[in-house]
Amino acid sequence: MKRTILITGGAGFIGSHMVRLMVNKYPNYLIVNLDKLTYAGNLKNLLDVEGCSNYIFEKGDIVNTDFISKIFSKYNFDSIIHLAAESHVDRSIHSPMEFIMTNIIGTVNLLHAAKNLWKDNLEGKLFFHVSTDEVYGSLGQTGLFTELTSYDPQSPYSSSKASSDHFVRSYGNTYNIPYLISNCSNNYGPNQFPEKLLPLFINNIQESKPLPVYGDGNFTRDWLYVEDHVKAIDLIFHSGKINETYNIGGCNEWKNIDLINLLCKKMDVHLNNPAGTSEKLITYVKDRPGHDKRYAIDASKLQSELSWKPSLQFEQGLEKTIVWYLNNYEWLSDVTSGEYQNYYEQQYK
Ligand code: NAD
Ligand code: TYD
Repeated sequence: MKRTILITGGAGFIGSHMVRLMVNKYPNYLIVNLDKLTYAGNLKNLLDVEGCSNYIFEKGDIVNTDFISKIFSKYNFDSIIHLAAESHVDRSIHSPMEFIMTNIIGTVNLLHAAKNLWKDNLEGKLFFHVSTDEVYGSLGQTGLFTELTSYDPQSPYSSSKASSDHFVRSYGNTYNIPYLISNCSNNYGPNQFPEKLLPLFINNIQESKPLPVYGDGNFTRDWLYVEDHVKAIDLIFHSGKINETYNIGGCNEWKNIDLINLLCKKMDVHLNNPAGTSEKLITYVKDRPGHDKRYAIDASKLQSELSWKPSLQFEQGLEKTIVWYLNNYEWLSDVTSGEYQNYYEQQYK
């Protein structure tokens, strides 16, 4: 094998697309997927790569120092693509400690293990940290986040991710660990856990349940199809300048309410409902505390240095996403049973 790569959080939404891309595209890389399988991790996301000879799954917690140290000795990784995280803002408002443990302590554990493993030879080593645009805080009506925008995280989730970004840079600066950081906007696509806006609303429309729009619905996000995100990570991983940061975005801003109206129209067509059926489910609910008004990414560095651009138009990506969820109702009902029901009752009571 030419490389041995640890992917953390590979059973989650973005992680499973990352694992699939790396396993299929690079048969001479050994891909080790390390995941705790929290409520958000699902090995059913990876059934198609399960039997591949260059793929191994290890169940474990990045917060567990002994376990991480053993895994690093066992495989002698030359690179890490770190995606494991608690990732939902609303959960971070209810349970910030879990975010601090996994996103901060877990990241530092991995950095520490990499530092120990690579202490005699840093040649060809890489710690790739997958982060979010939310570390930059919230924008007003205008402006874009660049790689030079000061950090100003506003939620426990974004604060924990910002902290982990700082630790990655500090290990680069202090111990010369070669690193890359990417900060991406909101992802959407197949296999996203239905607590995030799009899969939640697709699920609720199918079940004729209310669509809980926070506040006045005039909050703006930039949306990128998940496969375009993992293609960008692959490109940066192989060709990015070491110890640099790259913003990744779709150049595709939507106000929540406009996006929800578009989704409702499309769902009516797919479900053969009379026009306007899904829109009637829209229910304005209490706003998220500290809700960030607008995120928007300037991805020009990635475009100009590495010639990256999203491959899909948003309407194509949305269409593919809807079709995937409609064809995978079993996946959806599996992941919405159990613990998630408790979360749902608590969040939307
Ligand atoms: P996700 O919640 O779908 O998946 C997270 C995965 O990490 C799950 O498989 C979970 O089991 C695993 N995990 C959680 N805690 C763990 C622990 N302590 N030890 C080992 N594994 C653990 O998240 P996602 O949406 O796929 O996000 C992946 C990464 O991308 C995160 O770091 C997130 O901050 C970042 N990101 C996400 C988005 C987005 O829109 N979803 C955008 C930009 C960046
Ligand atoms: P979300 O998918 O949670 O991503 P993030 O908060 O990380 O951007 O939410 C996207 C937007 O949708 C955000 O402005 C909050 C809003 N939202 C709702 O209006 N209702 C909901 O039930 C959820 C989950 C989100």
